Amino acid sequence: MIQARALVKAFGDFKAVDDMNLQVEPGQCFGLLGPNGAGKSTFINMTYGTVLRTSGHLSVFGLDPQTQSRSIKKRLGVVTQDNALDESLTVEENMQIYCAFIGLPSHERKKRIDDLLEYMNLSHKKDARIQTLSGGMKRRLVFVRALLGKPELIILDEPTTGLDPAVRHLLWGKVKELREGGTTIVLTTHYMHEAEVLCDKLVIMNQGRVVSEGTPQKMIGEHTPGYVGIFGLQDKAAIERIHASKPDLHFHEDSSGLYLRAASLPELTSIHAEHGLTPLQIRPSNLEDVFLKLTGKDLAADA
Ligand SMILES: Nc1ncnc2c1ncn2[C@@H]1O[C@H](COP(=O)(O)OP(=O)(O)OP(=O)(O)O)[C@@H](O)[C@H]1O
Ligand SMILES: [Mg+2]
Repeated sequence: MIQARALVKAFGDFKAVDDMNLQVEPGQCFGLLGPNGAGKSTFINMTYGTVLRTSGHLSVFGLDPQTQSRSIKKRLGVVTQDNALDESLTVEENMQIYCAFIGLPSHERKKRIDDLLEYMNLSHKKDARIQTLSGGMKRRLVFVRALLGKPELIILDEPTTGLDPAVRHLLWGKVKELREGGTTIVLTTHYMHEAEVLCDKLVIMNQGRVVSEGTPQKMIGEHTPGYVGIFGLQDKAAIERIHASKPDLHFHEDSSGLYLRAASLPELTSIHAEHGLTPLQIRPSNLEDVFLKLTGKDLAADA
């Protein structure tokens, strides 16, 4: 569905996307993770020709976004990182303009808009101006817009950033329904839990490069297997002593606590028995641990 090989996007001397290789299969929900500035939106904008690549290969539906972006745009829907709605117009007017833009036959427009507004619980806002909508309503409306053309591929650039948990869960449900209906989905997110919940396959990007790829479980098994015990900052001296005596434990500190990762659960629970230290929490290692390790913040402690 999407194939990138040795893909590069340079802005002057700076490579926002640098030798990127990936393949998105039909029917997949594919996640792009990476810190701010990793190159996620640049990649996404290249897939439908808004940003032109500097070198390398990129195809979407087997087409070249550089020369065939019109054909590609007819078959994909995009939830852009910024909503890009016309604030002075109403909900329906915005959607009508987009229907015309994608060439939806006029007699189909009204029903398609009504159906999708209902699907996203927005029917009651049909005549409201965009500037009167909440952030969550605008985001749901951008989903409506992305679905107007019945796309085979839907691209979601940070679909739930800044939304409250109720709206986020609503959108997760819709993404799952779309995927179950056979739509291919590419999404970027900063929420590791969102990626674990929704994605069949992920890549983690850092500084324009793909630094890891696979299923969430494969990545966790490969980079940060085991369990994490989180201790309070007041236990720092004791935890540092334990870490020094058990070098196979991985140690990481941040403002929320001290993190010790071990290959097995007994290794962590024994700390309580042997040293009398009670962790605030013990949990299986997750994608956030992988992300922190691979994107640098944790490298000094965990390399
Ligand atoms: N038009 C441009 N001109 C110059 N630099 C750009 C341009 N667009 C993006 N960049 C730079 O490319 C890098 C990647 O940006 P991009 O928006 O792709 O990151 P991102 O992974 O989407 O980040 P975020 O998570 O913050 O959305 C950043 O350093 C950004 O400043
Ligand atoms: Mg971005």
